Amino acid sequence: MNTLQLGTKGMNGPKVSAIGLGCMGMSGVYGPSDRAESIATIHAAMDAGVTLLDTGDFYGNGHNEMLIGEALKGLKGSQRDAALVSVKFGAMRDPAGGWIGYDARPAAVKNFATYSLQRLGVDHLDIYRPARLDPNVPIEDTVGAIADLVKAGYVRHIGLSEVGSQTIRRAAAVHPICDLQIEYSLISRGIEDDILATCRELGIGITAYGVLARGLISGHWKKDAASATDYRMHTPRFQGENADRNLALVEALRHIADAKGVTVAQIAIAWVAAQGDDIVPLVGARQRSRLAEALGALNLTLGADDLAAIERAVPKGAAAGERYAAAQMASLDSEPGRA
Ligand SMILES: NC(=O)c1ccc[n+]([C@@H]2O[C@H](COP(=O)([O-])OP(=O)(O)OC[C@H]3O[C@@H](n4cnc5c(N)ncnc54)[C@H](OP(=O)(O)O)[C@@H]3O)[C@@H](O)[C@H]2O)c1
Repeated sequence: MNTLQLGTKGMNGPKVSAIGLGCMGMSGVYGPSDRAESIATIHAAMDAGVTLLDTGDFYGNGHNEMLIGEALKGLKGSQRDAALVSVKFGAMRDPAGGWIGYDARPAAVKNFATYSLQRLGVDHLDIYRPARLDPNVPIEDTVGAIADLVKAGYVRHIGLSEVGSQTIRRAAAVHPICDLQIEYSLISRGIEDDILATCRELGIGITAYGVLARGLISGHWKKDAASATDYRMHTPRFQGENADRNLALVEALRHIADAKGVTVAQIAIAWVAAQGDDIVPLVGARQRSRLAEALGALNLTLGADDLAAIERAVPKGAAAGERYAAAQMASLDSEPGRA
């Protein structure tokens, strides 16, 4: 599999696979998941050359990190050495799974990291990032605390998540930032306004999540198919008429996919990959069959005609509904004033 470097322009960022595996869905966020199949999916990804595994300490309240830790134990030699784990911190949960705010104060950063190292069973975190900007803590303080962990050898690289250009510049002035993790898909293109240009100016890579809009534009999702515990049912794009309008966009994409003999998911993933060689799509596969489909996108090259046809099928801004519910939109430094 091709690799690319996150964090160029003298930053010596990590070399990662052209596609990364996002493990969030393996911890119940999108309804029940199967532990053995999740671990088999991580191993299949590594066998196929995927080296970047993405998680957050709050995914399943630590469950996701323990799952990845177990999967890592099953890897040997060079394959284990190749695995890079990218961890988000800062979101706080209560025992019932409720979301109770963010904490990115320096002491909290070091505390969160300590527990992540333990749950993952590793001696360092490859990329460590605050999941959101803590409105009560200057980003310089948060990044400064991670930089202390870098100096002490507990963290290799620093990333950011869902922050805007101004925050990116302030963070990068404290310590090299290897990547920004942010939602980017055919129906979530806010990054194109100025954030992508800022990252390119500074040599910061993009790890794009939600490339299938959490399954909505995968070609597999059906309205009303989700279980009650599925987080997506609280997301405006999956609800009522919004869902109908968004699924109509998927059908337009399906015509293009059928004509090329590929799947809708492969078109959607390949489109993100085609936006630049500094962009790594993170796919949220939690079953080997989905992973195989996603990896097939790497064999698909979209030419100018294809990209134009995709743009006609799903023009920028075509999605119905915001990508998060209002309260969560309000916590996005990357989307000022959108809540
Ligand atoms: N920084 C942040 O704020 C943030 C936020 C969210 C996520 N993330 C990270 O990004 C990763 C990816 O996000 P995501 O899971 O929302 O994105 P996604 O890849 O857009 O969506 C995953 C969903 O799409 C479905 N799907 C259908 N076909 C698929 C295929 N061929 N390959 C993969 N999935 C397919 C999955 O299916 P099934 O339901 O059938 O399994 C799953 O429900 C997460 O795991 C997490 O690590 C980061």
